[in-house]
Amino acid sequence: MKTHHIVAAIDIGSAHIIAALADISPAGEILPLAFAEIPSKGVKKGGIANIGLLQHAVDTVLDELQIDGSYHIHSIIASLSGVSIIGHNADGTVEVRGNPVTRHNVMQVIAAAKSMSMLEGRQLLHILRQSFIVDRQTDIDDPLGLMGEKLSVRVHVISAAKTAYYNLLQAFSHRDIDVDHVVAGGLASALAVTTEDEKQLGVCVLDIGAGTTDIVVIHHGVVKHTEVIQLGGELITNDIAFFMRSTVENAEQIKRQIDVHAAYPPEESVEMPGLSEVARRYAKHDIANVARERCEQLVEMVMQKLSRAGVEDSFPGGFVICGGSANLSGLAPLIMQKTQLPVRIARVEVALAEEKLIGSRFATIMGLFLCAYEEDYTRTMTDETKTGIIRRFGDSLKRIGRRLGKHF
Ligand SMILES: Nc1ncnc2c1ncn2[C@@H]1O[C@H](COP(=O)(O)OP(=O)(O)OP(=O)(O)O)[C@@H](O)[C@H]1O
Ligand SMILES: [Mg+2]
Repeated sequence: MKTHHIVAAIDIGSAHIIAALADISPAGEILPLAFAEIPSKGVKKGGIANIGLLQHAVDTVLDELQIDGSYHIHSIIASLSGVSIIGHNADGTVEVRGNPVTRHNVMQVIAAAKSMSMLEGRQLLHILRQSFIVDRQTDIDDPLGLMGEKLSVRVHVISAAKTAYYNLLQAFSHRDIDVDHVVAGGLASALAVTTEDEKQLGVCVLDIGAGTTDIVVIHHGVVKHTEVIQLGGELITNDIAFFMRSTVENAEQIKRQIDVHAAYPPEESVEMPGLSEVARRYAKHDIANVARERCEQLVEMVMQKLSRAGVEDSFPGGFVICGGSANLSGLAPLIMQKTQLPVRIARVEVALAEEKLIGSRFATIMGLFLCAYEEDYTRTMTDETKTGIIRRFGDSLKRIGRRLGKHF
C-alpha cells in the first residue's frame, strides 16, 4: 500500500454505538480524524433486535461523525457480535506428489479448508491461517518451495448466522453506504489490545461489554479460538436493580461505586431511592456479593468454554480484558484469583487532534482499523489472497474521490 487511506468504521454494541474515521498510513499507522458515540438503540446482547431503531441510531452517529462537512462516508467497516458468531478450526489437504509447494498449491489448500467450512445458513467472516503441514512436518508458517507428497492447512474460521449478517447490512440499506467488510467484534478488540509478545506466548482476550463477552484465544501468533457468551455488564446492573428494588439507571450508578473484590465492613452502606420513592439503605457488602456472584458465573462460563475447546492451556500470558465492563472495580483481581492467571485491563487510546480519549471500550473501534489494514483479517476468499480490504477500499475510494473531489 503506497498511499494513505481514510477509513470509516462502526462498532455497534448493546450499550453504545461508536463510529470513527481514521487515516491509515502505508505503514499501518492509524490517525483518528473524527469520532462519535451515542447510546445504542435496537441492539440486545450484541444482536439486532429492532432494525428501525438501529437505522435511526446509525443515522445519528454517522451524521455526528460527518458534522463538520469535511468527510462524506460512502463505505464502512462494521463489527458484528452476539452469540450468532461461532469460531471453529478446519483443515484442508491437497496432493503435491513430491513436488515443491507452489503458491497455487497454497491457494488450493486454503480453498479446500474453506469448502470444509461452508455451512448451511452461515456467513463466513474470516478464515485465519493457523499453520501448514507438509507430510508429517507440522507447524510450518510458510510451505512455499518445500517438497512433499501432501500439503495440509489448519485454519480458524469465524462465521455468523446469515440472518444476523444480513440484519447488520440492513442497518445501512437506507443510506448510500456500502458495508465493505463485517468483522467479528471480539477479533477486532483482540487485535487492538494485545502485544506481539502476548500473542506469541498465548493470551485470552475478553471483551466484556454490556450484553456479551467476546472470547478470543491467540497462541503462537495465531487465533486458536473465538466464542461469544451472552453475559455482560447489563446483567450485573439488572441483578443490582432487582436486589435494591430500584431502576436500572440507579443500579448503574451504584455498580460503578462497588468493588466486587472488596471486603466491605458491614456498617458501610449506600442509600438508594426505591421504585416507590421510599429511600432504603443497603450494605455495600451485600451489593458487592450480588455483583460478585454474576462475575464468578462469567469467569466459570469462560473457563468452561475454553476447556471444552481444549485451549485452557494455550494462554500462559493470561487474560487481557477490555470492553466497558473491564472497568468494574475488583473484576480483574477476581478473575486473577479464580484462574490463577495474570489479568491486564486494556488501555486503548483514540488520539484525536483536539483530545485523547482513553478507555478499554474503544478496543473494537480501533481494532476495526487494524483489520482494515491487515488483509489477513478481512479475507475470506482464496482469490483475495493478494487483495485486502485496504486495496479494495483503495479502489472504491478512488471512485468516490472522483465522484466527490473531496477528502476521499
Ligand atoms: N466504570 C465502570 N464500572 C462498571 N461497569 C462499567 C463501567 N464503565 C462501563 N461499564 C459497563 O460497561 C458496559 C458497556 O460496555 P461497552 O460499551 O463495551 O458495551 P457494548 O460494546 O455497547 O456492548 P456489547 O459489546 O456487549 O454489545 C455497561 O454494562 C456498563 O455498565
Ligand atoms: Mg462491544
